[in-house]
Amino acid sequence: MKGEEVSGAVSEGYIKELKRQKERKEELKDRLVADGFPSFKEAILFEAGCGHGHWLTSFSNANPDTKCVGIDLIAGRISKANAKKAKRSLENMHFYKAELLEFLEVLPPNIRFSNVVFLFPDPWPKARHHKKRMIQMPLLEGLAQRMSPDGKLYFRTDDRSYYEWTCDHIEQSDFWEMKPQDQWIFEEDTYFQNLMGSYFSVIARALPGLK
Ligand SMILES: C[S@@+](CC[C@H](N)C(=O)[O-])C[C@H]1O[C@@H](n2cnc3c(N)ncnc32)[C@H](O)[C@@H]1O
Repeated sequence: MKGEEVSGAVSEGYIKELKRQKERKEELKDRLVADGFPSFKEAILFEAGCGHGHWLTSFSNANPDTKCVGIDLIAGRISKANAKKAKRSLENMHFYKAELLEFLEVLPPNIRFSNVVFLFPDPWPKARHHKKRMIQMPLLEGLAQRMSPDGKLYFRTDDRSYYEWTCDHIEQSDFWEMKPQDQWIFEEDTYFQNLMGSYFSVIARALPGLK
């Protein structure tokens, strides 16, 4: 977030937003502690922008021994995801209403990701909005620090420009390598995949040595 300078002073709105952000992060941190994250030993499959949780609940149902976490900005989508989790009695998964960078900031340092999945993230097609895309160089570095050995990133979009952006970012990153021959982790339509005719997928592996 950028500071808003109004006549040399930081604006009231900016201060309020900082306060809200601090409260959100404290609340999320408390929930992660209550859910036992500080003592988790196993690596987690993490989905960023999970929407209604279609994909993650199906993955968890098919892989009950893998701990899964899905986050989304929108509370109503997380409610629907939690309803799916309850309907299938999926014990080994958690959904949180959270923003990606805030979530990564408060996640206990012991937590490692086995795989990270992005399915049909908002493409922000206008050039002036590209900075809002989830895939950015600092994010790729932050995720790489969290990956367990051989951990992979799976990204799928219907938007060619976002696909090219993600390929370019991964190719320029010191922390990931493209794995175009690898198989998609788990095929299951998401809500948005159903709406879109075609899509592009990217698979990358975190390079060892960064911790
Ligand atoms: C186009 S939807 C795709 C949802 C789902 N993955 C699917 O394929 O059906 C993108 C989702 O990402 C969420 N999202 C966007 N930016 C986010 C962020 N910074 N942190 C967490 N979730 C985010 C949105 O709220 C939205 O639900």
